[in-house]
Amino acid sequence: MTRLVLSLGGSVLFPSLEGHTLRAWAPVLTALARSVDLFVVVGGGGEARRYIQAARDTWADEAFCDEVGILVTRLNATLLIGALGTAAYPRVAFNPGEAIEYSGRGKIVVMGGVTPAQTTDAVAAVLAERARAALLVNLTSVDGIYSADPKKDPAATKYSRMTPQELLEVVGSGGLAAGSNAVVDMVAAKVVERSRIPLLVLDGRDPRLLGKVLFSGDVAGTMVIGDQENPLPLETSSPP
Ligand code: UTP
Repeated sequence: MTRLVLSLGGSVLFPSLEGHTLRAWAPVLTALARSVDLFVVVGGGGEARRYIQAARDTWADEAFCDEVGILVTRLNATLLIGALGTAAYPRVAFNPGEAIEYSGRGKIVVMGGVTPAQTTDAVAAVLAERARAALLVNLTSVDGIYSADPKKDPAATKYSRMTPQELLEVVGSGGLAAGSNAVVDMVAAKVVERSRIPLLVLDGRDPRLLGKVLFSGDVAGTMVIGDQENPLPLETSSPP
């Protein structure tokens, strides 16, 4: 079956703990897993930033703050496993190797963060490489990649398609403090370039959009792809 890796941004699944969207996402992911081998990497969200800020207030170094962020991503991953019930493998994978080990049983494999100085986007990119995924999808709280931050620059334009090299140029200007909030981090962009796995950056605020784009040929977000063939719409015998 086609392997698909989703980076489900904390800003989408846990904008805050109380504002979680677990109930909306669980049926979407469960239905999707009937058509593809599904891996989901969960981000930290608003709560991770609060914990990181509390750690910083104690004069902790950035790597320590990252470790705090990783724990929150794993806590969020645990909550997603609970929401998915029997559709998910019951343990959070702590690294891509474990994720591969837990796959192949028809269950959704869920991960959080792995190591400091990156974000869960990088985790998802490495996992996509290890799993030889057909596609990596980054579900985030913007509708694609822009030439500049659209909130700050009214002249910013959205890319519907770009190459990994163009992505590296756009991402190159971002910083890497714990809890920082770029659409895709530099490590992820570099792994996308070397693995040649297409990356789709998609608005995750409406969970229904994912299925439409994967299977119905609807075009949305930004597709980061070189000269390889576009995998969309995904071929499956049983679309959800
Ligand atoms: P993420 O940055 O990946 O979650 O993890 P997020 O920001 O909520 O996801 P988006 O941007 O909304 O999609 C939160 C923090 O945890 C640490 C980093 O400090 C990161 O900013 N982290 C996470 C790591 O250090 N390593 C990891 O592998 C994952």
